[in-house]
Amino acid sequence: MESLHVETIAVLTSGGDAPGMNPCIRAVVRTALSKSLRVIGVREGYTGLVQGDMQNLQARDVGGILQAGGTVLGTSRCMEFLEKKGQREAIRNIHEAGIDAMVVIGGDGSMRGARVLAEEGIQVVGLPGSIDNDMWGTNMSIGTDTAMNTIQDAIDKLRDTASSHRRAFVVETMGRNCGYLAVMAGLVAGAEMVLIPEEDVSVEEVAAAVEASYIRGKTHAIIIVAEGASIRATTLTEKLNQMDVGFKTRVTILGHIQRGGRPSAFDRLLATRLGVAAVEHILDGATDVMLGLDGRLIVPVQLAEVVAKTRQANLDYYEMCRMLAH
Ligand code: ADP
Ligand code: F6P
Repeated sequence: MESLHVETIAVLTSGGDAPGMNPCIRAVVRTALSKSLRVIGVREGYTGLVQGDMQNLQARDVGGILQAGGTVLGTSRCMEFLEKKGQREAIRNIHEAGIDAMVVIGGDGSMRGARVLAEEGIQVVGLPGSIDNDMWGTNMSIGTDTAMNTIQDAIDKLRDTASSHRRAFVVETMGRNCGYLAVMAGLVAGAEMVLIPEEDVSVEEVAAAVEASYIRGKTHAIIIVAEGASIRATTLTEKLNQMDVGFKTRVTILGHIQRGGRPSAFDRLLATRLGVAAVEHILDGATDVMLGLDGRLIVPVQLAEVVAKTRQANLDYYEMCRMLAH
């Protein structure tokens, strides 16, 4: 790859925050400083670019954040950056701050934004940060593992009370249009049934599964519903309670709890490897790519490919989950 002259790099976090963004920022900053680069932290994702809200970062500025959830830089869903006018301001601010290259940490929307920068001639490397694990070009995104652990812990706890009261629980997980979190939660925490956007299941099928587990003598039934499934958890719960399925049913929406908390060891390691690799790739001249995890390796994938495709839940795991529910 052609080597561009880079003296100053900037880093931002964008879209939904994800546990592990902080270790990633730390890795980017300290790797860049170790290579005698100047590092700028942009506040609140593309909002900070549009408004010129950024500051120099030193090694001490990213001290004590390895174990912290969220993102110290802040994040946003920035509507102005969707428009040409906002993008123009952002590019102008990038030039004015003397930024030679950008590291963008975020989900698929953020990678669309990164593409805009690349198309405007800004050297940019994206890193996948999203609990949803719906991004093309990486086996795992930063934050997904921690969110999975949070969901697992929550369902373990719900099972305690479900068994004690002999109830069914409907648990709603996040994931936008992707059933990854729900399916994997079904495997690691155990579920009678999982409802995901990728597979349609009728209320009658769910009712039959819950009733069957009641008849088999189970003390509880857990139904996991991805937020993007064709029926919402609350509606499903109401319908199950209107039918006689043996158990009475309660609902728990896990919500934004899934986005918080100390990053797991896996997420810290992934985030750190990606952050280091981002700076190395920038110095090698890479641009218009996202770095992803492919097996055990960190590999670049063209941003155009990343934004053109979305990753769906693996239906083999979905079937495995159903088979193991018996
Ligand atoms: P995530 O990155 O977690 O998927 P969003 O979809 O909200 O979250 O995207 C984060 C931000 O990326 C948006 O608020 C917007 O500023 C920017 N973005 C998203 N899509 C585009 C696009 N098509 N063009 C330019 N910027 C975009
Ligand atoms: O993309 C991460 C995510 O948590 C999705 O799972 C969810 O649909 C969305 O963000 C929620 O967004 P907000 O925090 O803006 O409500």
